[in-house]
Amino acid sequence: MQEKLAEVLEQAKVIPVLVIDDVEDALPLAEALVEGGLNVLEITLRTEAALAAVERIAKQLPDAHIGTGTVLSGEDVRRSEDAGASFMVSPGTTEQLLDAAESSDVPLLPGVANPSEVMRLLERGYRYQKFFPAQAAGGVPMLKSIGGPLAQVRFCPTGGVSPNNARDYLALPNVICVGGSWMAAVNLVREKRWAEITRLAKEAATL
Ligand code: 3PG
Repeated sequence: MQEKLAEVLEQAKVIPVLVIDDVEDALPLAEALVEGGLNVLEITLRTEAALAAVERIAKQLPDAHIGTGTVLSGEDVRRSEDAGASFMVSPGTTEQLLDAAESSDVPLLPGVANPSEVMRLLERGYRYQKFFPAQAAGGVPMLKSIGGPLAQVRFCPTGGVSPNNARDYLALPNVICVGGSWMAAVNLVREKRWAEITRLAKEAATL
């Protein structure tokens, strides 16, 4: 399962974290991001439209990798599977969530914020973890420190990552990719500013 996740994460230096209010925005938004060079997308399960958005993009843009974010429960795992997600992301973990994810064919990128959480997940085989909330939980210095004793884990920092600090994260040997919402901020999506989103995606893809 970790190999499956690695395949996806290695294609993505930057993963857009998306909040989609209107399912009609799903395809033009995904197309705008893919056109800009970002083809691994996380759609957060925070809106009513999220699962329909995942389903639509997964069916119509087969070259993109569509994951679900804000996966909090076994029920979210099942809903992600049904919608056709190719990976799942959680802000943290619970035993129930891990048990559900481990009986699923869809790999989970689980969230951690400190060394004990990293170790607990490592015991269960997770070599790829999301560092969340990255900036608030210590940012680049924290990840550098964790990389000393726990060098075998690679992270996707998310939360407060921006064009100003993304390069610093990506320069760390234990960072595989970063996640962030800046290239598809909610206001840009609501205003359907697809060309602007493609421009920001292009910039992000060359970080
Ligand atoms: C989130 O919680 O929405 C993600 O971690 C993205 O965070 P960001 O908006 O700070 O990029």
